[in-house]
Amino acid sequence: MSVFDFDKLTDRRGTLSLKWDVAEHELPMWVADMDFETAPCITRALQKRLDEKIFGYMILPDAWYEAYQGWWEKHHGFSVQKEWLIFTTGVIPAISTAVRKFTTPAERIIVQTPVYNMFFNSIVNNGRRILENPLRFVDGEYSMDFEDLEEKMKDPQTTMMILCNPANPVGKIWDRESLEKVGELAKKHHVLVFSDEIHCDLTAPGKGYVPFASVSDICRDNSITAVAPTKTFGIPGLQSAAVIVPEEGLRQRMNRALNTDEVAEPGSFAVDAAVAGFSEEGWQWLCEARSYIEENKQYVIEALGRQVPGIQCISQDATYLMWLDVSAYTKDSEALARAIQKETGLFLSAGQIYGGDGNTHLRLNVACSRERVADGVSRLVAYFSRQKAQDAVE
Ligand SMILES: Cc1ncc(COP(=O)(O)O)c(C=O)c1O
Repeated sequence: MSVFDFDKLTDRRGTLSLKWDVAEHELPMWVADMDFETAPCITRALQKRLDEKIFGYMILPDAWYEAYQGWWEKHHGFSVQKEWLIFTTGVIPAISTAVRKFTTPAERIIVQTPVYNMFFNSIVNNGRRILENPLRFVDGEYSMDFEDLEEKMKDPQTTMMILCNPANPVGKIWDRESLEKVGELAKKHHVLVFSDEIHCDLTAPGKGYVPFASVSDICRDNSITAVAPTKTFGIPGLQSAAVIVPEEGLRQRMNRALNTDEVAEPGSFAVDAAVAGFSEEGWQWLCEARSYIEENKQYVIEALGRQVPGIQCISQDATYLMWLDVSAYTKDSEALARAIQKETGLFLSAGQIYGGDGNTHLRLNVACSRERVADGVSRLVAYFSRQKAQDAVE
């Protein structure tokens, strides 16, 4: 029996939750935000801080470095040296900072679409240009298109690549060979790799991920990696993250840039939560959360497979986000997501916002109780059954 209650129907309405700012009959399953109560060890650490009743500026304790080092060593097989780590308030702030520091306006930055849409913002809002290296989808699997990647890296205007490892929204854990190849091509063509590894802990039970910087000396010395406890433990509101920069020259510049942008100041809740989460107790919670999420995914695959066989759930081992192929119904996932929302109150992310083949996909967040997953599925079933009935009439 589970020690933690993932079945609990947490009520987040009226809490200023971005996700749950919806009407009574509506069900949000879009943004990557968990509905689970976080690990009790995190809540206890925050409570302890609250009890102090004074919330001053904070010094980063050794415990913060040790928590990251211990977690990556033990669970991801990667030895991170203390001096490689820099605190930052978020992964996206760190990406935007790196874009400004390591590229110049109008240069090109590679992203492998479909990919987390905020990457586009970090590029475009800083006056750089997006260069898409679309993922290939063959025999039900996403993979990287290296020929296209090299062509794009060759362009002297291409100076950075933002890698999503594991990938959101497609849920792919990149294998060592693919990462090694990215590292080699990037080095050969003088392209800096920013590896966003925020989803790395949310893999299927028994499946690990490969930290990009751990793959080879080439990957290590030409990369900046961002990691965080925020997706792992469902605490994005606490704004807590870290960058890992093994190469000294890059690190000095990144450190300077994060400080110039004022996104390297540790908040006490952010630090306490990371230290408490990246612990033995945090691991136990995470293991159970991962199993629960995996069961949720299986539930959706089975229920949709039976009732809406036109939707293909792309098989995936990472993230709590399901990538649904709805190409049998539409080439305009935005219009479809809007129609589903209007008719059933179910909020999904339209794949279109992620580029690539997202126009024929929807993203479904299953980091919630099974009861809500079942509710979401029945809304989808109702929508597609009604569509079918209408099509039959017309
Ligand atoms: C790939 C990826 N990177 C970054 C973020 C957001 O990170 P942060 O809140 O630390 O900026 C998300 C959130 O969904 C994400 O999916």
